[in-house]
Amino acid sequence: MGFSGHSLPVRTIAESQSEMTELILPNDTNTLGNLLGGRLMHFIDLVGAMAAYRHSRTHVVTASMDHIDFIAPVHVGDLLILKSSVNRAFNTSMEVGVKIWVENTIAGMHRHVASAYLTFVAVDSQGRRVPVPRLEPESEEEKRRHEDAGRRRELRQQELQRRRESRPSDSPMMGTVRPGSK
Ligand SMILES: CC(C)(COP(=O)(O)OP(=O)(O)OC[C@H]1O[C@@H](n2cnc3c(N)ncnc32)[C@H](O)[C@@H]1OP(=O)(O)O)[C@@H](O)C(=O)NCCC(=O)NCCS
Repeated sequence: MGFSGHSLPVRTIAESQSEMTELILPNDTNTLGNLLGGRLMHFIDLVGAMAAYRHSRTHVVTASMDHIDFIAPVHVGDLLILKSSVNRAFNTSMEVGVKIWVENTIAGMHRHVASAYLTFVAVDSQGRRVPVPRLEPESEEEKRRHEDAGRRRELRQQELQRRRESRPSDSPMMGTVRPGSK
């Protein structure tokens, strides 16, 4: 681990890469015995946060999760394997890539079921945003992911700006009945 000009450490991707394995139980599934999409997103958020914590060594909040395709179902009794790594660190935010496989416990076969990109923002114990250590990509593959993360950030920012402009200003929810109202 080295140090950049502003005395924050410089970290490699390997230093924060994380992995999580979950046995899928009936409580995680729908009426067909398939893993619920929301439960999968919960696991993705957790394994993504692990990499973000290890990179930033501070508190993190999830700012966004990009588009996600559920490529194949996961069944009760399967093992879900999730791997996460920080693709790029920006100022206070980090893009984390998560890839998910399912392992059939009897056949031992692995199958890719989903991938997702998440952005985590580093905050201190008061919830104030704090700078994150720089990420040093080493291999060609890591450098490619670093470049791709920069392009995705630009698209994300354009899209965020568009949504912010079209968002109605804060107002009471439609149809909300306030205490005392008729
Ligand atoms: C995420 C959050 C900290 C951003 O705060 P903000 O005041 O809007 O901050 P800014 O617009 O100045 O952006 C701060 C950083 O976050 C990034 N960011 C903000 N919104 C983002 C989004 N929707 N997607 C990706 N990145 C985002 C910005 O690019 C910027 O990155 P940088 O510092 O590396 O350049 C704030 O919206 C928040 O606290 N959200 C709730 C988080 C939470 O509770 N998550 C759990 C899910 S309920």
